[in-house]
Amino acid sequence: MHPLRKPLLLKHFLLLAVIFAFTPATFSQSKAKVKISAPAKGLNPVIENKITALLAKMTIDEKVGQLNQYSSDKVVTGPITNSGNKLQDVKDGKIGSLLNVRGVDYTRQWQDAAMQSRLKIPLLFGLDVIHGYRTTFPIPLAEAASWDLDAIQLSARIAAEEASASGIHWTFAPMVDLARDPRWGRVMEGAGEDPFLGSAIARARVIGFQGKGLGNTDAVMACVKHFAAYGAAIGGRDYNSVDMSLRNLWEFYLPPFKAAAEAGAATFMNSFNDLNGTPASASKYLQTDILKSKWGFKGFVVSDWGSIREMVAHGYAKDTYEAADQAIHAGNDMDMEGRAYNNNLAKLVKDGKVSMAIVDEAVRRVLRKKYELGLFDDPYKFSNAEREKQTLNKQSFIDAERDVARKSIVLLKNQNQLLPLDKNKTVALIGPLVKSEADMKGFWSVDWEGKDHSVTLFEGMEAAGAKVNYAKGCDVSDTSRAGFAEAVKTAMKADVVVMAVGETAIMSGEAKSRSDITLPGVQEELIKAIQATGKPVVVLIMAGRPLVFNWTADHVPAIVYTWWLGNEAGNAIADVLYGKYNPSGKLPMTFPQSVGQVPIYYNYLNTGRPSKDDAFSKYSSGYLDITKRPKYAFGYGLSYTKFEYSDLKLSKNDIRKAEEITVSFTIKNTGKYAGEEVAQLYLQDAVSQPVRPVKELKGFKKLMLQPGESKTVSFVIDKDKLSFYNNDLQWITQPGKFNVFIGSASDDIRLQKSFNLLD
Ligand code: NOJ
Repeated sequence: MHPLRKPLLLKHFLLLAVIFAFTPATFSQSKAKVKISAPAKGLNPVIENKITALLAKMTIDEKVGQLNQYSSDKVVTGPITNSGNKLQDVKDGKIGSLLNVRGVDYTRQWQDAAMQSRLKIPLLFGLDVIHGYRTTFPIPLAEAASWDLDAIQLSARIAAEEASASGIHWTFAPMVDLARDPRWGRVMEGAGEDPFLGSAIARARVIGFQGKGLGNTDAVMACVKHFAAYGAAIGGRDYNSVDMSLRNLWEFYLPPFKAAAEAGAATFMNSFNDLNGTPASASKYLQTDILKSKWGFKGFVVSDWGSIREMVAHGYAKDTYEAADQAIHAGNDMDMEGRAYNNNLAKLVKDGKVSMAIVDEAVRRVLRKKYELGLFDDPYKFSNAEREKQTLNKQSFIDAERDVARKSIVLLKNQNQLLPLDKNKTVALIGPLVKSEADMKGFWSVDWEGKDHSVTLFEGMEAAGAKVNYAKGCDVSDTSRAGFAEAVKTAMKADVVVMAVGETAIMSGEAKSRSDITLPGVQEELIKAIQATGKPVVVLIMAGRPLVFNWTADHVPAIVYTWWLGNEAGNAIADVLYGKYNPSGKLPMTFPQSVGQVPIYYNYLNTGRPSKDDAFSKYSSGYLDITKRPKYAFGYGLSYTKFEYSDLKLSKNDIRKAEEITVSFTIKNTGKYAGEEVAQLYLQDAVSQPVRPVKELKGFKKLMLQPGESKTVSFVIDKDKLSFYNNDLQWITQPGKFNVFIGSASDDIRLQKSFNLLD
């Protein structure tokens, strides 16, 4: 036995005793025979009884089979272990779930095989439906920039409708990893750097995927990932170690996971990283103590791809036998494409290292979801070819995608109101991404067969009736400048230039960390050459992460961050460029001026020697060569109109702990376009132990205002918003002064007041 596990094991058994004490049967094969009477809170007694009866019929190999997930060979999203004869394994009841399968016909073939197994336990089909299925939506980071929870929920809902119609039961989303390091390629898959915004988005996505609940044919199970702290990989290098205080973990990294669990997420996925020396798959602290015990999670935990087996490479387990032993005791229920359980779990039970009760508990959790999905009643519930045909790519889905896409766009700069463009002006479209169709979908798009079509910028502008000329100018990464001359010539002939530059879609995503996050290749040189023509230039940046583009930011009059917007990208961008849609996105992640400032985030702790934002001051916590300011702050984003904030009122000056305080203020649209503003509430606990962030987002509202219109906005501040984790990980409030900031961005605070929290 691993020396580190001894004290944990005892606790673990106590926990299981509690769980079993509330489940309806006697576990005949369990070492700890416990008489059971009623199901645990929130569980369906009918289902629990069925599981008990089924467990009693299962051999150990069949039980291990339920905890075993393989990837199909058709598509692989990680290093595959061994193809073997998977179809035969399914017939032998040795596989509980397959990933990387999709389509009614294909999944039906696999389910047919499962129906030939002794106990006919249906298979679960999982897939990375990250931002849409057939209709590809903006990458999750882009959607987060919309700060529009209805839009985000709708995107997940449509993805679930399509995926479930195509045989899928389970999506490996949402990714709720908080990220402060744009070098990490997976920032594209999350909601950015803030726990409050991230929690709201996590909830919206879980509700979107699971719809009215498991059992409905249009619901897919959500899988909240990657538990936990995967986004804090040292150096922004994917799969790397994470070393962080537990207070930091609880305060910043765990809230979106908790929110997703509370929203009813069916499953969780653990992560590749070690957290303070323990690989997440081996972490009983995360999976059992926090998730299953403290948060009362009744679903199951799947490992990340091979992450149990990878404990050997971590140097944490000497072989996969030991790794499987660690993982199952920690609360990792299913093994994704790792074969650690498949090869070792039965032997571990035989050797007396793992009790049958522990295996049964993991199998119970997996079977519970199969029952809740209704697969035991009808294994082909999601296998209706006609429904698949009717559902995929409906026009209403495409329209919704266009709307979500334009809401995700962030206007970074608009000098002299260059935008929106006048339709009568001729436009030179220049840059390597103007005509790129493949990149529009971004990384993690399910449509690997490329069956659907994405609207390029060129097509979107033409469809909008623009008079366009085109020159590519250069490639994204290549260093050839051979196309510059033609690009300059094309620019000279036009009234205005729109450039599309950035990353290719495969430069962000899993295993796509970059040490240099400036515009790749000679793209910024091309921008300089075009800017030198004297023509008005609009630069569109298409990317999966915050990039550094200081020269462009300082010299080009208009900059629009479009991320990767999905199938309707070109149309959505044209809507914004021509003012059919007034941009309303706000950055969900801080944009650094230099990669040397990373990790960079707005809710930092002040030091004893805070530096000035704009200048170097001696003996202060800054840099010699640049200010500590980001290039663009969290929450920043412009509109074609202007919003004026006024009249901040607090309902009280002093409150007691149990009381609430209402903050209200007025926003007026003082410009000439109708537009949406995201009003942001930040709080600061002015004096506290431990030290608290300089400000923290605690509320936001997105509202539409017609020109000249005013609206009153209010937020309620309750005890929860004033609480934080102390060093003993207790959720507490401390009396004293609180500062209230109301702003249009984290660095654009328009109104400010204070109140006191009394003892
Ligand atoms: C590994 C990734 O980390 C995870 O997010 C994904 O769901 C699995 N591969 C399956 O593709």
